Amino acid sequence: MKTRVEKIDRTNINMDAIRAAGEILKRGGLVAFPTETVYGLGANALDEEAARKTYAAKGRPSDNPLIVHIAQLEDLRAIARQVPDKALILARTFWPGPLTMIFDKSGIVPDGTTGGLDTVAVRMPDNPAALALIRAAGGYVSGPSANTSGRPSPTTAQHVREDLDGKIDMILDCGPVEIGVESTIVDMTVEPPMILRPGAVTKEMLEEAVGEVAVDHTILTADSKTPPKAPGMKYRHYAPRAEMVVVEGPLERVTARIRSLAAEQEARGHRTGIIATEETVGRYDHGNVKCIGTREDESTVAANLYAVLREFDADGTEYIYSEAFDEGGIGHAVMNRLLKAAGHHVIQV
Ligand code: TXA
Ligand code: MG
Repeated sequence: MKTRVEKIDRTNINMDAIRAAGEILKRGGLVAFPTETVYGLGANALDEEAARKTYAAKGRPSDNPLIVHIAQLEDLRAIARQVPDKALILARTFWPGPLTMIFDKSGIVPDGTTGGLDTVAVRMPDNPAALALIRAAGGYVSGPSANTSGRPSPTTAQHVREDLDGKIDMILDCGPVEIGVESTIVDMTVEPPMILRPGAVTKEMLEEAVGEVAVDHTILTADSKTPPKAPGMKYRHYAPRAEMVVVEGPLERVTARIRSLAAEQEARGHRTGIIATEETVGRYDHGNVKCIGTREDESTVAANLYAVLREFDADGTEYIYSEAFDEGGIGHAVMNRLLKAAGHHVIQV
């Protein structure tokens, strides 16, 4: 299959390209599209066969459910059997935006889309091209991240091409995304609502809107006995090919330990990478050192995380050492993705 790439200017959207993409989705095809978090792999969410194609293109286990993207709040009622009041408040506060909510699903959502679950994940993305595409496709677009299963999520259209060129019908290229880590997932079928995956909408932000919110404890802690409640979180995805270690502790000691670990691996002849920050990048003299952002504003780290992991892959890196980050705010999402990428391999110093 030849994958068509259409550039989309977010301030002046090419509606011919959007209409063509919408037609592809209506006919059961696959179109990768930009969102504010990561690029998604779009398909008609109400079409079982399109879900099957999505799993095949990603090489993804079909027990891992997809998120259904909508463009207007009224469309939620047709796919969610019940919409609790708190969910309405969260939708009005954070949609369009990086928040996915889980509901009991209605009969029109096929089992293929939800990986056989009785619940459905729903989100309204904050990107004008995405919203136009969803409307053009009839209102319901399933969108897992548009990467091959097991690789870091795509934050540019080029990342999507690396993984899916020749396997999907079209890519809408709207440039780099803004946020860089996937949406916050909140289960609204339980009380209090529970965060299953941290993202840019933080626990504090959710609690300010609806009061107490619980957190799935497997988010930051490896726990072999309890599987995470979001099925996709059990896979070691977000992962680079290299073996990765996160070093945690006071910054002085972290950088000293990473220096010596990198020096050791280099001496053994291994290609070694370091994830550093503006504050620390000057302290390293071994390995391939990449500055991922500033500790002053961890949203910069979120924005660069997946691109940096992909660069290390492209460089043939065998060992990656990363500094840990503060877990407040979006740092919770950053640490969740880093720890998963590292298979929870952490050194405390
Ligand atoms: O930011 C995002 O959410 C991106 C963009 C494209 O919107 N999408 C995304 O999709 O990250 P994906 O498929 O890579 O991750 C969806 C996650 C998986 O961990 C999946 O297990 C979980 O959502 N999920 C989906 N439906 C669920 C459900 N009914 N119950 C529990 N978890 C669910
Ligand atoms: Mg994903």
